Amino acid sequence: MNAVEIEEAISSLFEKDYDPESFKWGFLEAFGNKVTVIKRLQSSNSLSDIDGAVLLRNNIHLITCPEGEVNSAFFKLKNSPTTSKNKVKFILATDGNTVEAEDLFGDAPLVCDYSDFPNHFGYFLSLAGIETVKQIKDSSFDIRATSRLNRLYVELLKDNPEWGSSDNRHEMNHFMARLIFCFFAEGTDIFRGDGLFTKIISQMSESDSSNTHQIISEIFRSLNTKNADRSSNNLSRWTEPFPYVNGGLFSGSINVPEFSKIARSYLLHIGSLDWTKINPDIFGSMIQAVADDEERGSLGMHYTSVPNILKVLNPLFLDDIRAKLIEAGDNSRTLLNLRKRISKIRVFDPACGSGNFLVIAYKQLREIENEINIRRQEVGRKSDIPLTNFRGIELRDFPAEIARLALIIAEYQCDLIYRGQKEALNDFLPLDSQNWITCGNALNLDWLSVCPPPGSEVKITSDDLFDTPLDQAQIDFENEGGETYICGNPPFSGTRNQNEDQKNDLEKVFSKYTSKWKNVDYVGGWLIKAAEYNVVTKAPFSFVMTNSMCQGQQVPITWAILKRLKVKIRFAYTSFPWSNLAANKAGVIVVIVGLDSDSHSDRFLFSEEKKFYCENINPYLTTHKIDSIEASRKPLFKFTQMDYGIYYSRSAALILQTDEVVELKKAGIPSKFIKKFIGSTEFINGKSRFCLWISDEDLEYIKSFPIITERLEKVRVERLETKDLSVKKLASRPHQFREWRDIEEKKMIIPIVSSENRYYLPIGLVDEETVITNAAFSIYSAPIWIFSLIATRLHLIWITTVCGKLKTDFRYSNTLGWNTFPIPQLTEKNKSDLTTCAVNILLARETHFPSTIADLYDPENMPQNLRDAHDKNDEVLERIYIGRRFKNDTERLEKLFELYTKMTSNK
Ligand SMILES: C[S@@+](CC[C@H](N)C(=O)[O-])C[C@H]1O[C@@H](n2cnc3c(N)ncnc32)[C@H](O)[C@@H]1O
Repeated sequence: MNAVEIEEAISSLFEKDYDPESFKWGFLEAFGNKVTVIKRLQSSNSLSDIDGAVLLRNNIHLITCPEGEVNSAFFKLKNSPTTSKNKVKFILATDGNTVEAEDLFGDAPLVCDYSDFPNHFGYFLSLAGIETVKQIKDSSFDIRATSRLNRLYVELLKDNPEWGSSDNRHEMNHFMARLIFCFFAEGTDIFRGDGLFTKIISQMSESDSSNTHQIISEIFRSLNTKNADRSSNNLSRWTEPFPYVNGGLFSGSINVPEFSKIARSYLLHIGSLDWTKINPDIFGSMIQAVADDEERGSLGMHYTSVPNILKVLNPLFLDDIRAKLIEAGDNSRTLLNLRKRISKIRVFDPACGSGNFLVIAYKQLREIENEINIRRQEVGRKSDIPLTNFRGIELRDFPAEIARLALIIAEYQCDLIYRGQKEALNDFLPLDSQNWITCGNALNLDWLSVCPPPGSEVKITSDDLFDTPLDQAQIDFENEGGETYICGNPPFSGTRNQNEDQKNDLEKVFSKYTSKWKNVDYVGGWLIKAAEYNVVTKAPFSFVMTNSMCQGQQVPITWAILKRLKVKIRFAYTSFPWSNLAANKAGVIVVIVGLDSDSHSDRFLFSEEKKFYCENINPYLTTHKIDSIEASRKPLFKFTQMDYGIYYSRSAALILQTDEVVELKKAGIPSKFIKKFIGSTEFINGKSRFCLWISDEDLEYIKSFPIITERLEKVRVERLETKDLSVKKLASRPHQFREWRDIEEKKMIIPIVSSENRYYLPIGLVDEETVITNAAFSIYSAPIWIFSLIATRLHLIWITTVCGKLKTDFRYSNTLGWNTFPIPQLTEKNKSDLTTCAVNILLARETHFPSTIADLYDPENMPQNLRDAHDKNDEVLERIYIGRRFKNDTERLEKLFELYTKMTSNK
């Protein structure tokens, strides 16, 4: 269950009449416990030692009690030995009037009225496996509002299907944005009178809902009409209390979809939420999913946490400003200069979604400005920071609209905190009519137009201009002459997942630099556009990106261009999991990089929660001075050749399953014509597959078996059917795969893809009865110490870094990973030691026969003797490199880069 679904279940449970018995089960169900689990608990709940209580191990200890006894029941739960014995996370007691609960591993206890509980459900999200950051626990409102608005949205589209068509979607989204504004405004006194918007709709619209849309439309009309024009515009008298809002929000069409009775009641319910609690940095990310058919299923679960956003903004510019604030102390003049500097800062997010990076940047700057005002004894002073200096581009219109709204709300909330309600209200309306969030495709737009550089009297446009958004481009920045910072979390999408439009976008951005743009992740487009923008503006930029941008083939392509554009990494966060609200979330591993064109000597790297200063950060996010590892067709360092196995497309009838082998043997086919046929999957999972292996010399003989000739004919026909000329040619020798080679020897098999959870690459040794397919690499005629090299942690680290990953699996490449692997000169003694290690690994595997490679390398269950054999192998090789064990993977990588640079420059 996701957080929104939990909220819905909890709200409906707490809306029902309280029943002590059914409450307990309803509560467990609301947090995603299966009916079978609940039934089991109902029939025997032996874990709790308290009468009437329910205990779910690692989860909750829960009791309903007689009226007025909540506190004593709560302490009974807390002191019960079964609570600690069963590692219970939460305890909860209620009598239907009050709830007392505690997160035993975290926050302060919660005490609230029973009816108010839904406003606190976020406190319990970890019960459903949702790891929450502190902030989201305090944001129950945002989840509740999202869930209610979602219900309304779906209901309205049901009744007004034409509003869901692509032509009308924009209008529907605009309508939702208007509603959100009205709810916020009525909850915060921007509309005078408590709950004015909802109250008027409730009073003026028929209870059968027939004219709800007309009433709302009339309210919207009033919000767009200046007071002076009201009487001439024939506005209904009851709209009088509504102020003039404008700001483009209520201009244009004021069509409103028709409301069913259900939709009307949803609307009135939404109004009853406490909108003062809205958190614009979270709410926007959640609500944007409402208007997105694909995202709606996981409503708002891709929310980006504020700490993660700060990982981008702090090192990009906020840390520097805070340092200046400390330096300024109470010096009034220096503080004034700092305030002026802040007021000129422009923040630009070219994939802004609903504006969370911009909102956080704005709020942080307001906080610093307020501190300056306090020190200068100017508390309550009007802010100098213009909202329009926080620019964004967003492809989808609803998030773009919400981004602007979120910024407006953030401005009001900051005014409320730092200047008081009176001033906040005085300055709020009418809204600024400019729209500084551009709805469009950032990879097609000219960023110099969307966010013109400081001091550019004449608007600069770059020469790769496609669709300049003229309206928005003309909005001037206030407080000219400041710094610009680019930030964000642009979309990641690997080559296989890109749609045609995205591929075209990349072609436009990259084709002037490289023909290899097809291999680039979509996010690469933002890096290049930002670097091009930097050439003109010098604006530093920082993005969150998939970590694959700093691995494998992305490096020689994208980072080589960035180097040409003369930007360098100023700071970076090495790989870390990107957390969101999805229950049991799949790990998206990201990095953050910040680049600019200044020559700093103090660059810094955040790795494993620590900050390191360094002189250089390379695209692989280590400190060695290296640009990229390029693929090489031949091994660079006197190694033996590693090749793909046998290509077997259009050869179905040459491949055999076990029962077909039995059939062929019955027909008298000699065993020498039947070989095992394995690729990565068969090797790792111990699956059997076979193939026919027929030399040219044996062809006439084997053709005497009709069962074989039938198969060869099938292969011939299959190959002739293809349009691929090279495969068509192979129809003339259907008895063989594309490659024919002598396989009469032992060889090594190296899987192309292997799970990232394995601590080692599971290389294997196979006999002369086996053919390796092109779903794996093979090394023929190699000494066994080569096996030892590939089996080491050192090699795996190299592969992970320079070859990259497929989703989250290691992806081996012979040209990038093997042919470039640097190794020092080996003595005969070294080779003999490594040979012993390889043999020991193979022997350790043997002792667990018939376990598969997948079983043996399961990180949880890897047998100790195999672990030891690998560890010894690592030790022997690492001592060859540096005379001791490496301290960690970073040190391993640094050494490999160093050696690579030395060895390639020697060449
Ligand atoms: C990963 S989200 C980040 C948004 C926001 N910062 C957040 O954390 O929720 C990326 C955003 O980029 C938008 N986007 C995708 N392709 C785009 C394009 N070509 N131009 C502009 N925005 C785009 C998506 O609609 C999405 O809102």
